[in-house]
Amino acid sequence: MGNLTLMMIKPDAVEKGYIGAILEKVASAGFVIKALKLTQLTQRDAETFYAVHNERPFFGELVSFMTRGPIVAAILEKENAVQSFRTLIGATNPEEAAEGTLRKLFATSMGENAVHGSDSDENAQVEAAFHFSKREQF
Ligand code: RTP
Ligand code: MG
Repeated sequence: MGNLTLMMIKPDAVEKGYIGAILEKVASAGFVIKALKLTQLTQRDAETFYAVHNERPFFGELVSFMTRGPIVAAILEKENAVQSFRTLIGATNPEEAAEGTLRKLFATSMGENAVHGSDSDENAQVEAAFHFSKREQF
């Protein structure tokens, strides 16, 4: 069980001015920020990041959404980080997300669901290295 996960605040939530509110919830839930940046994915970045979904019907929509504006990327530390953060985020579809979760609070739809969290310790490592050089990780 690993202690790191990779978060992205997606373009919809950045556009709506939710960066501060989301970071406050993340900190209140006991996650420690180990790396943090505002950045924007290129088409190639998004296709690489979500390559596991490249055969899915929503892939084009996902890539165009994820590249349409800046995102916040962060490495978060907490015991059992991947599972704990996915609990904080809530279900992929905000209509199914539990009360108090980030997607219940800040997401609008299945496609525009405000926050990403890694789905395994292995992917957390890959995604952290995707966004941050070693000198950007503390
Ligand atoms: P994420 O990777 O962004 O944290 O989301 P997740 O694990 O909850 O969901 P995942 O299955 O990895 O899907 C990645 C993103 O693709 C979009 N999606 N759309 N229209 C659809 O049926 C559909 N399914 C997935 C969502 O934006 C989801 O976050
Ligand atoms: Mg996922």
